[in-house]
Amino acid sequence: MKPRELMAEAVRARRRAYAPYSKFPVGAALLTRDGRVYHGCNVENASYGLAVCAERSAVWQAVSDGVREFTAIAVTARDGRGAPPCGSCRQVLNEFAPHLWVYWRDARGRILKRRLSELLPMAFGLRQLRAR
Ligand code: THU
Repeated sequence: MKPRELMAEAVRARRRAYAPYSKFPVGAALLTRDGRVYHGCNVENASYGLAVCAERSAVWQAVSDGVREFTAIAVTARDGRGAPPCGSCRQVLNEFAPHLWVYWRDARGRILKRRLSELLPMAFGLRQLRAR
């Protein structure tokens, strides 16, 4: 699936965002190795700190469905606002897919594309836990 197509899925996912406090709806589309797409949106709460990002919503959705192999994620916020994944989401994505492709858009709407390993270099992960 092309970045543009995955981004179109993220735009669809964003429609379900629940963001009454920040008024910053975010959508994510997570592509699985076998070609399925899981949507995620941010879900906020009156207790502000409990907000969950779109990217993590997509990961929870996929993992709950028994899927853990991912090849790409597309993220979108309001038009004209770039939205690369936040640090917490980078860490969560790294758990399952350190070489994931990450797509987001710049302020002019062009799709930017980076490997997660570039967005989260020298990540802490399972390997560190196992090392003696
Ligand atoms: N947000 C995301 O959904 N993904 C990100 O990577 C950055 C931030 C959400 C969290 C909160 O609901 C709103 O955007 C403003 O921070």
